Amino acid sequence: MLKNDEDPSLELSKESFKNSDITFSTNKEDLIDAHFHIICVPTDIDDHKVPILNPLISASKNIGEVIKKGDFVVYESTVYPGCTEDDCIPVIEKHSGLTRKTDFSYGYSPERIVPGDKVKTLSQIKKIISACDKESLKIVSQVYSKIIEAGIYETSSIKIAEAAKVIENTQRDINISLMNELAIIFDKMDLDTNEVIDAAGSKWNFHKYRPGLVGGHCIGVDPYYLIHKAKQLGHEPQVIAAGRKVNDFIPHFIGKKIVTTLLKHGKNPSNCKVLVMGVTYKEGTADIRNSKVPQLIKELEEYSIEVDVTDPRANEKDLLADFNITLTKELSNDYNAIVIATAHEEYKNLNFDFFKSHSRDQIFVFDVKGVLKEKTFEHYWKL
Ligand SMILES: NC(=O)c1ccc[n+]([C@@H]2O[C@H](COP(=O)([O-])OP(=O)(O)OC[C@H]3O[C@@H](n4cnc5c(N)ncnc54)[C@H](O)[C@@H]3O)[C@@H](O)[C@H]2O)c1
Repeated sequence: MLKNDEDPSLELSKESFKNSDITFSTNKEDLIDAHFHIICVPTDIDDHKVPILNPLISASKNIGEVIKKGDFVVYESTVYPGCTEDDCIPVIEKHSGLTRKTDFSYGYSPERIVPGDKVKTLSQIKKIISACDKESLKIVSQVYSKIIEAGIYETSSIKIAEAAKVIENTQRDINISLMNELAIIFDKMDLDTNEVIDAAGSKWNFHKYRPGLVGGHCIGVDPYYLIHKAKQLGHEPQVIAAGRKVNDFIPHFIGKKIVTTLLKHGKNPSNCKVLVMGVTYKEGTADIRNSKVPQLIKELEEYSIEVDVTDPRANEKDLLADFNITLTKELSNDYNAIVIATAHEEYKNLNFDFFKSHSRDQIFVFDVKGVLKEKTFEHYWKL
């Protein structure tokens, strides 16, 4: 796709590829001429929430097979502190027969982009840079300075840089989990959580985070890297693990809310049809990895609810392969409830007529992130 000027994540337009001198290749041989190698492969977790290092290890092996004396390797994948030097560099040494620091240099510079953010793009985000020694740090910083306009932040060690990245996302995860827990409590009190947050946010030192589904390959995953390392070192993290638990509970909470609302209004779930709008893990992206919407859909299906799914951005083939979900081609006019699960821009202006024309009788709208401008429905709920 990249060779055809197509960005699979829909972040870049075709025009962005024009006049670019990048060669896209999957041939290892093409790396032989390179002197500066950047590794940014996925760092996922398995079903037991344990880090999957296989892509990092196999990429390190690839580099080990082509690296030459004097070359540089920089890792950008999100990892736990110590991963670069303890898990990756030994693989390069083993497959190259070269020795770290004397034969080749290495560094770590975390990727910090936010998918879907068109303003804070790579060059506009301060880049954390670390390296194996002072000399290498200078060179790695010089290389990145060629493209980074927002400036460079050098750390004193690779572990500091690794830890910095993993806590950025861990902090975000915990902050959102607090809002999610508040949303659960305020729902019982019939209070609008976002209104409460807005009121509290009128104080200068209150941090405005919003409740929501926490999916994707970063925020919902990275804290497990820190948990994993902490456990190895004999500490069982409490706060970080609790944050993860609360955020992972939200699809179930929303699913139960939808089912109980339908039941309260005399609808038998097994005769109900629900439309779920938005299945990507966050608004404005095509990325469905680790999206929590499929889990919400599963919750509904467990009550024998028929679920239709639509999304203007999600890749149909990926959805089928990863979650066995087929996008609905034509919306029906008899949904018992409509769920806006992802706050895509396209949904913000959906009006009363849209919901009326697709609802069976009464209109039930579950607007997870409260994205709709119009909220005057018979039954409207947001997290
Ligand atoms: N995408 C983001 O917005 C973002 C933001 C911050 C941090 N990160 C971190 O950056 C890293 C990469 O994330 P991503 O979303 O770009 O991943 P990705 O899934 O898009 O994969 C990146 C590339 O790695 C390749 N790859 C996969 N397995 C490989 C292997 N075994 N050997 C060689 N190449 C392999 C893929 O084909 C792809 O080209 C992760 O650690 C992630 O946490 C990503």
